[in-house]
Amino acid sequence: MSDAEHVEAIFRSSVNIDKAFTYKFLEPWLGKGLLTSSGKKWHSHRKLITPTFHFKILEAFQEVFAEKSSILVQKLEKEVGNTEGFDVYPYITLCALDIICETAMGTEINAQEDSHSPYVSAIYRASELTLGRMLRPWLHSDFIYSLTRDGKKYKQCLNTLHSFTSKVINERKLSLMKKHYIEEEPDVLGKKRRKAFLDLLLEASEEGGRLTDEEIREEVDTFMFEGHDTTSASLCWTLFLLGNYPQIQERVFEEQSEIFNGSDRLPTTQDVAEMKYLERVIKESLRLYPSVPFIGRALTEEVQVGEYLLPADTHVNIQIYHVNRDPKYFPNPDEFNPDNFLPEKVQGRHPYAYVPFSAGSRNCIGQKFALLEEKTVLSAVIRRFRVRALDRPADITLVAELVLRPLNGIRLVLERR
Ligand code: HEM
Repeated sequence: MSDAEHVEAIFRSSVNIDKAFTYKFLEPWLGKGLLTSSGKKWHSHRKLITPTFHFKILEAFQEVFAEKSSILVQKLEKEVGNTEGFDVYPYITLCALDIICETAMGTEINAQEDSHSPYVSAIYRASELTLGRMLRPWLHSDFIYSLTRDGKKYKQCLNTLHSFTSKVINERKLSLMKKHYIEEEPDVLGKKRRKAFLDLLLEASEEGGRLTDEEIREEVDTFMFEGHDTTSASLCWTLFLLGNYPQIQERVFEEQSEIFNGSDRLPTTQDVAEMKYLERVIKESLRLYPSVPFIGRALTEEVQVGEYLLPADTHVNIQIYHVNRDPKYFPNPDEFNPDNFLPEKVQGRHPYAYVPFSAGSRNCIGQKFALLEEKTVLSAVIRRFRVRALDRPADITLVAELVLRPLNGIRLVLERR
């Protein structure tokens, strides 16, 4: 499906919320977390987890976004003067991993300093292997997969991923039992501990929500998966577009200059709220290159879609990439034009013509988090560097893996401002 009116019929339904069968291949890793679960379990967990994404809580993560962005720009310094260009993708991914690890689990993995950590490598490898399996029907059987080299490698990755999250959960549980420890006591380095999603889940669970240790691990693994790959891709695509459209980049820089007035301080949530133009840039970039290019649903009830009646048990594929580029709603659909997101433009448009975060009851729970993170990271990069892309949009080969990626990375040249 690629038409706003058609996808509306699915997104508006409170019944047709089950995921298509391909999501089953994420289950060995993510279990039945928010992304993959359905029915009562999904309903009760979504209700329990929604308050942990409240704006007040996201505000507390601003410091993490800003600190990790500062490390990113320091790391990027070494590419200044490299006129042959370099691939920005690995830098951004490690930064996004640092951010999600600290906000989801309250743990620092310092991926930007140590990209060879077993946990970081396992995340990379598990994503690749999952997609490889989805695309090869002969690997769908659990028994056959377990006998293959990939299946064995996957099992090793899962051991690394699950033992890491379980260890962190146990440590945080112990801390929570020592009451108030999380909030009040500084850690060994003297830094005040911040609450992470995991702490909030543990607290909510104590207060009657009751999640088992396994359920908590499933949700934390889901955040780790959904919360870093998607934002990395979106950040890279936005830098790519800014590197192709210098005038738009200069407008972004002007807005930053107005907000920071020459100071090199870290951005606060107030500053981020003022980055209105940058927000339009990110939204437009997600329109052209949605991190999740398609999603799947399994219909539990028949549904009328335009002139077609789709029976129950049909598996539908919603092509977010194509919905977002419909010339009916975006007259020059392939052109990068942040003004598409001026308030007056948004107001008059079909509500399902732009759906990078999906829509309806199974929409992305992390969308506000993603926008805050992305604005903070991009602000740091654009305040420090002028960015030039070596490839044009027409030269890039898109790969629809679990997220939408450029086949050969994003080649940039940086100049210090
Ligand atoms: C640019 C960044 C992001 C994009 C484009 C994005 C997109 C999406 C999309 C399209 C879905 C629906 C998936 C489906 O129906 O199969 C989704 C669901 C979800 N996202 Fe995101 N996402 C982003 C960032 C994040 C972040 C940062 C987090 C967590 C910190 C997150 C957590 C989730 C979760 C838990 C779900 C499942 C929600 C449910 O079914 O109740 N996402 N996201």
